[in-house]
Amino acid sequence: MTEMRITGRTGIMLMLADPVAHVVGSLRLNDRFAAEGLDIAVSPLHVGPADLATVIDALRRMRNVLGFGVTIPHKIAVLPLLDATTPRAARIGAVNFVRRDADGRLTGDNLDGRGFVDGLAGQGIALRGRRVLQLGAGGAGRAVAFGIAEAGARELVIHNRTNERAEALAADVAAAYPGCIARAGTNDPSGFDLVVNTTSMGMHEGDALPLDVAHLAAGTDVAEIIMTPAITPLLAAARSRGCRISLGTSMLDAQYVLVKELLAIGAPAA
Ligand SMILES: NC(=O)c1ccc[n+]([C@@H]2O[C@H](COP(=O)([O-])OP(=O)(O)OC[C@H]3O[C@@H](n4cnc5c(N)ncnc54)[C@H](OP(=O)(O)O)[C@@H]3O)[C@@H](O)[C@H]2O)c1
Repeated sequence: MTEMRITGRTGIMLMLADPVAHVVGSLRLNDRFAAEGLDIAVSPLHVGPADLATVIDALRRMRNVLGFGVTIPHKIAVLPLLDATTPRAARIGAVNFVRRDADGRLTGDNLDGRGFVDGLAGQGIALRGRRVLQLGAGGAGRAVAFGIAEAGARELVIHNRTNERAEALAADVAAAYPGCIARAGTNDPSGFDLVVNTTSMGMHEGDALPLDVAHLAAGTDVAEIIMTPAITPLLAAARSRGCRISLGTSMLDAQYVLVKELLAIGAPAA
């Protein structure tokens, strides 16, 4: 790894989280910025919910801050504290990266769904015209579902432990993307082109599988968004059944390019 040298010329980024110990996104971003020779440094920042508004207001005034990431539990709470949100973030109802303009104006975007789609594309897996089964309708699942519909999937069936959340998400996606048939359903993967796990099942040893892998056909692609472990029991089972797989780390890695776009890093000064 290249040695990191932070000076007064360095563009600063932060990652706001609570708890903060598990945050690895900063490491991956720092490595990528360093590999490209960009003078940008990213630090996690431990901020509790009660202090979020104060911290956001302070970041507005910090003139060498380019922007910041927000993760659990701030992705929704940060919305009303910003000056603007992209239509995509407004639709999802959550923000994960914020650009700080030179005048302190803060614009929030949500790169999770697009990151997922681009990560899949990097594995040679496209979404246009395909039938997708999504497991989970939590925070990340919301962003992924909108990303899948935006990428042109023909059908999106959402299964969630709490069925009402699956139904609400499917209705929101169907309203925003009438070209995608979105509905709540079971977790039977038979007949789907792609299955994506957006639940946290598979993060911890002893977790149950989110679906019956005996029903997974070799022609069904299987994607995860869990980053640790990289190969979840679902991915291991899918691989042994001959399915193409996509790792959760692909979704995070793909967001590097999107973060650069959002923050206009490397673009000529306006
Ligand atoms: N790769 C990336 O870039 C990236 C980005 C963001 C998040 N993630 C990962 O995505 C995962 C989910 O994060 P999140 O923020 O969406 O969490 P979340 O909002 O808490 O949602 C958790 C989801 O998992 C389901 N779930 C949890 N425990 C379950 C169980 N025992 N049985 C069945 N369903 C269960 C929940 O169902 P209910 O609605 O019924 O509770 C919900 O759908 C985490 O592993 C996180 O690390 C990855």
